[in-house]
Amino acid sequence: MRLLFLLSVLMLGACVEREAPTGREDFATFCAACHGASGRGDGPAAAGLDRKPADLTGLSARNGGVFPGTAVMAKIWGYTGVSPGDRDGGSPMPEFGPLLQGELVPYDGGDGISTPTPVRLVQIAEYLKTLQE
Ligand code: HEC
Repeated sequence: MRLLFLLSVLMLGACVEREAPTGREDFATFCAACHGASGRGDGPAAAGLDRKPADLTGLSARNGGVFPGTAVMAKIWGYTGVSPGDRDGGSPMPEFGPLLQGELVPYDGGDGISTPTPVRLVQIAEYLKTLQE
């Protein structure tokens, strides 16, 4: 019985992976042009921008050592056009509609509240977490 459960979890994992690109892949596609492959804000498109892309390797450091999961999610989500109120008009960040497609998974950004969140957003946040120094 327990083996069966384990198997179905593994199969579910395999499905999710096949359907959605990984966080690393989505970061390369949607974010690296500005934020740089390493997330330091030194992507090829950064030089042409009025506002310098944030150094995404310092998100935790700038937040007292804690990865600001919910704020990061709100930032990306804000630019998907779902919550237009989050757009401040001054940022060159584009919209990321495709990142909202696919499955919803529970995500707790660190405040203890789990919210159903598009899996690709969660994966990007998890990937950004690995870039923190
Ligand atoms: C067209 C260039 C561009 C692209 C593409 C882009 N960003 Fe940004 N990003 C910026 C700029 C410029 C800022 C700083 C101004 C601001 O906060 O809006 C920023 C800020 C941020 C911040 C806030 C950091 C902080 O310390 O407040 C986060 C988080 C972020 N970007 C994540 C992402 C992610 C994740 C992607 C890909 C899904 C992405 N960005 C794609 C230009 C871009």
